[in-house]
Amino acid sequence: MLKFHFAGIFMIDICATNHAEVNCCCKERGFYMEKLNGEALRTIDEIVARHKNQAGPCIEMLHEVQNELGYIPFEAMEKIAEATGSSAAEVYGVVMFYAQFTTEPKGKHVINVCLGTACYVKGAQQLIDRVEKLTGAKVNRTSEDGLFSLDATRCLGACGLAPVCIIDGKYFGNALASSDFTNEIRRIVREEKKAGAKA
Ligand code: FES
Repeated sequence: MLKFHFAGIFMIDICATNHAEVNCCCKERGFYMEKLNGEALRTIDEIVARHKNQAGPCIEMLHEVQNELGYIPFEAMEKIAEATGSSAAEVYGVVMFYAQFTTEPKGKHVINVCLGTACYVKGAQQLIDRVEKLTGAKVNRTSEDGLFSLDATRCLGACGLAPVCIIDGKYFGNALASSDFTNEIRRIVREEKKAGAKA
């Protein structure tokens, strides 16, 4: 187990095994570890090379890696750390600090449930429980089958319609009282099952 400390605040343990091994504990603990393909590694190298001599290179690199790959793999954090003279733990600390960064690939369908105050008071937690049950995705994680990501978000700016959720970019207001939100998830689940059966 490797231990990383960040500014005395974060301490992360990352197991020192080959993370592609079935028994690797890291994924369970929130670290998405899988062998990246050559193209993804080349993309990371290009981004690092492009930004390493700029001011504030770490954030720029992280943004680009996330835009290109959809998430920030641990290999990218290692390469960015090396290029910027930081430790992997420091780069990890930056990734954890900013809510827009994610260390896990997103599912095919992304569901956002607002957990801002107005939505929370109007029952957003019940919506999260419902989505977890329907999709198998835990909050801020992706389902095992890779189909759904469930993200709790801050205020989406539509408090008058609380609780508010988004499915693949489409807004649903009053999502607890109206059946539109759950019906849409059920529809997607049905379609994905059908597509899976045909494949
Ligand atoms: S608190 Fe949810 S939209 Fe504002």
